[in-house]
Amino acid sequence: MLVYTTNTGLIAHINDQKKTGFSLGFVPTMGALHKGHLSLVRQALAANNLVVVSIFVNPTQFNNSNDLNKYPQNLTKDVELLETLSKESIIVYAPTTEEIYGNQISADKFDFKGLELEMEGRSRPGHFNGVGTVVKRLFEIILPNRAYFGEKDFQQLQIIRKMVELTQLPVIIIGCSIEREFNGLAMSSRNSRLKTNEFDKSALIYKTLQTVQTKFKNHSIQTIYEWVENQFSNQPLFELDYFQISEVESLTAIKKKSIKKTYRAFIAVFVRDVRLIDNIDLN
Ligand code: PAJ
Repeated sequence: MLVYTTNTGLIAHINDQKKTGFSLGFVPTMGALHKGHLSLVRQALAANNLVVVSIFVNPTQFNNSNDLNKYPQNLTKDVELLETLSKESIIVYAPTTEEIYGNQISADKFDFKGLELEMEGRSRPGHFNGVGTVVKRLFEIILPNRAYFGEKDFQQLQIIRKMVELTQLPVIIIGCSIEREFNGLAMSSRNSRLKTNEFDKSALIYKTLQTVQTKFKNHSIQTIYEWVENQFSNQPLFELDYFQISEVESLTAIKKKSIKKTYRAFIAVFVRDVRLIDNIDLN
């Protein structure tokens, strides 16, 4: 599998492949790949002639330099995993920080219309400017036809859609469904930090969301919030960080349903210092 660390080599390779009807898929990641990432790559392979997977731990989206330095990195293992899908139709772009940012490691400021202030944005100020900055730069370098993002990070997906609308970059954004462990827990590189009993008990997160999906049909929003809080307050292992039912376009929390709108429930839960997030469609 070809691995490029500079954009000149990558661009030459892509240009060489371009002919009429050629379609380029792109899956941005920070590495430490698992089956969740692979499901995005699989979807990209099915719809495009060539797929670029970027592996770049983006410094501007971390609020805490400790989290950045601790982020797991294993390029060899990531490449091996990608090779199980295809050796010829995937190329890896693993740039240095300098390649992306030059000598100015800073984020652009976007007007995400308040999307950045909800949920994940509350505990991570500036995080989504960092995400928007790196994805915009990667899009400008790679010029993909389609780019794939997981609904696992649904707020990020909506932020990227907004960034594309603001910048008018000609990229189609595809949202991909959440890949889960056998017990329903959303796949994440953080799951490996859970002890066996914590992993087993964390099935409660998705189970709660599934019940919320059912209750949403005939219970008030207020009753659902109280029920979710109770689910976790009875469990010493968990600390509920937030639970929110939002309208999907604005991501703002709702008090009442309207039949014309689409909704999603979002949750973040601490298991010790491991913060797990998940979400579910309610319509
Ligand atoms: P990362 O956390 O590596 O995730 C890369 C992509 O994989 C994201 O689109 C994420 O939503 C998706 N993903 C992760 N777990 C998933 C799961 N269980 N099911 C489906 N998709 C899943 O998200 C980032 O990196 C970065 O913020 C990035 C967009 C690369 C910008 O730096």
